[in-house]
This record gives sequence, C-alpha cells and structure tokens, in this order.
Amino acid sequence: MMKHLLFGILCGLALCGCRSQTSFGDRAADAATLAAGNPVEETIRARRSIRRYEPQPVGRDTLLRILDCGLQAPNGQGRESWEVRVVTDSALLAALDRQYGCYVRQVSRNPKAQHPAAYGAPALVFIACDTTYDLSQVDCGLLGGNMILAAQSVGVGSCCLGGLCRFLNAPEGAELLRRLQLPDPHRLLYAIAFGYPAEMPAAKPRNREKVRFVE
Ligand SMILES: Cc1cc2nc3c(=O)[nH]c(=O)nc-3n(C[C@H](O)[C@H](O)[C@H](O)COP(=O)(O)O)c2cc1C
Repeated sequence: MMKHLLFGILCGLALCGCRSQTSFGDRAADAATLAAGNPVEETIRARRSIRRYEPQPVGRDTLLRILDCGLQAPNGQGRESWEVRVVTDSALLAALDRQYGCYVRQVSRNPKAQHPAAYGAPALVFIACDTTYDLSQVDCGLLGGNMILAAQSVGVGSCCLGGLCRFLNAPEGAELLRRLQLPDPHRLLYAIAFGYPAEMPAAKPRNREKVRFVE
C-alpha cells in the first residue's frame, strides 16, 4: 500500500516537473491558419532563402525602400552600430564571383566546384558590425531581418551569405574587402543577396521543441 502511494506521489511530482516547461507543438499549425489576412505575418511565412535569381536588376527606388526599412530596425542605445555597403556594379559582382569561386575550389580541394558569390543576384548588401560594441551583431541581424522582409513584401527575394564574408575576411579576400571601405572598428559580418526570384523553394521545417514556455 505504502509502495503504491509513494509511486503515485513520485509520478505526480514527475508530471509537475514536466509541466514546468511546455513547447507549443501543434498549436503552431493554428497560428499559421490565423495568419491569413495579416500581411506582415503572411510575408514572414512566405519568405524563403532564394538561390536562383532573374537577371533583371532591382530598381534603385525599390532598393532604397528596402534599405530604409533596414534602418528602421531597433538598435541598442540608438547607436545604429552598423555600416552598410550596397553593391550593384556588375564588374564588382563579377569580380566577387570569380575570386570567391577560386577560394571555394581551393578550400574544398575540388577543382570542379562552382559557387557564384551571390547566386547571380543583381544586388548585394554587406553589413558590418562595430567590434567595440558587444551587442552590435544583434543590431546588424535586426537590420538585415527588416530588409529581407521588406524585400519579400515587394516581391524581391533574398539570401543571407555568411560564406562569402568568411572569404572576404580571409587574406585571400582582403583586396575586395578594401573596396567596401569599412571604417575602423567595423568588421564585415554578413551579406544579403537581393533580386527577383527564379525559384520558389519549399519551407524547411522548424524545430518547435526549441521554444519552451517556462511556467
Ligand atoms: C547568418 C546566416 C548565414 C547564412 N549563410 C548562407 C550562405 O553562406 N549560403 C547560403 O546559401 N545560405 C546561407 N544562409 C541561409 C540559410 O541557409 C537559410 O536561411 C536556412 O537554411 C533556412 O532556410 P530559409 O531561409 O529558406 O527559411 C545563411 C543564413 C544566415 C542567417
């Protein structure tokens, strides 16, 4: 009798323990249905990384709108700690393609590796963080997030590019990096390719177990 009572208490305690953190699991599906008709949420849910672009350039006005949405992002202490460089010059984009391709072939030890710098996108935005401010990378992430969603809302696709910036920050990329004229103490963090999508990739599933309510 006592054994059963003790077992019951332990099970109860275990259950309470489990309830102290819950994930939202299936309720996410309801959230997706509720998004219908909410343009912001529909834009967020429709965005995917685009790795094939139409050659058509993104007009300067559209690009300026996207960039300005980036600047509207929240930023720590109002410092606007980012530096942003926009490249649409086809000669510079081609040079990036050429040299990044060489670098990828060298690093991967695969002489046949083909890797265009920005998947043929006609515009590349480089984002640099302030190395003297501990939260500058957050500023830069939020800036890019705004740009990506603003772009999506006007039919412009995008893809974040970390690998390209690893190359530019390596000795092999130093000459091209200088062309961006980033002031000290800024360091190139990542880039975003922008252009009209030539593909519509499916959404990758997200792991909702990463989100837990602490109760
Ligand atoms: C910081 C960062 C760096 C990334 N670097 C690259 C990259 O170098 N090349 C690439 O093709 N995609 C890159 N991506 C895109 C991710 O692979 C993509 O966002 C992820 O697989 C989720 O897919 P989705 O954007 O379509 O939802 C990067 C994304 C982030 C946020």
